[in-house]
Amino acid sequence: MITILSEIENVPDIEDPLHKSIFEKAEPYLRTRHNVIHTVISYWYAMHLLSVEGGARSIVAPAILLHDVGWSTLSEERQLLAFGPVVKEPDLRRQHEIEGARLAGSILRRLQYPEDLTGKIELIIDGHDSRAEAIDIDDMIVKDSDKLFRFSRIGFGIYFKVFEREPASYLSWLSRVTEKWFFTATALRLAREQAAKREEDLVSKLYETAVWPFCRCENR
Ligand SMILES: [Fe+2]
Repeated sequence: MITILSEIENVPDIEDPLHKSIFEKAEPYLRTRHNVIHTVISYWYAMHLLSVEGGARSIVAPAILLHDVGWSTLSEERQLLAFGPVVKEPDLRRQHEIEGARLAGSILRRLQYPEDLTGKIELIIDGHDSRAEAIDIDDMIVKDSDKLFRFSRIGFGIYFKVFEREPASYLSWLSRVTEKWFFTATALRLAREQAAKREEDLVSKLYETAVWPFCRCENR
């Protein structure tokens, strides 16, 4: 029997009407690499972190839904130089933040989102990868949710292939960076829990036997 990885990690759809309308505007810009599924899973991590850590839903939700729209301005080949275990082109990483903030601002203004919130969301998106420090709890939650995706089964299954690593060596790299990546205690705990589950996946040889449906540029 063929196992499809995406079918064994249930990802609910976005139901909040406002969040859904923002996501629908973002989606055309996310159809590159795996950014649609990345955004939905990161959104659910953000909702969980908000419920435990506090923070402003009106800022965090749009920021996480829109944080990666800027990748649409780079070819997939160039995107791969801008993130991962070895960032070869930091300027491209910066470009996706700057263009992402610009596109996010224009999407939110089209939706007539409050201007003061829009400015804050643009600021968070503008530094979501390159800024080492977090401005506040909202920024922390966006940064942590973005990174937590890598620990989900779907995120893990995507990234070890994208980075052309063996699953065990990629997991060992992820486990090393876990301790310095996260700002919130909740995200760190979740990352450790998920890493332990990925370890179990390796023992059960899941990544050797399951079919991965989003291998190159597909969406969800
Ligand atoms: Fe991201």
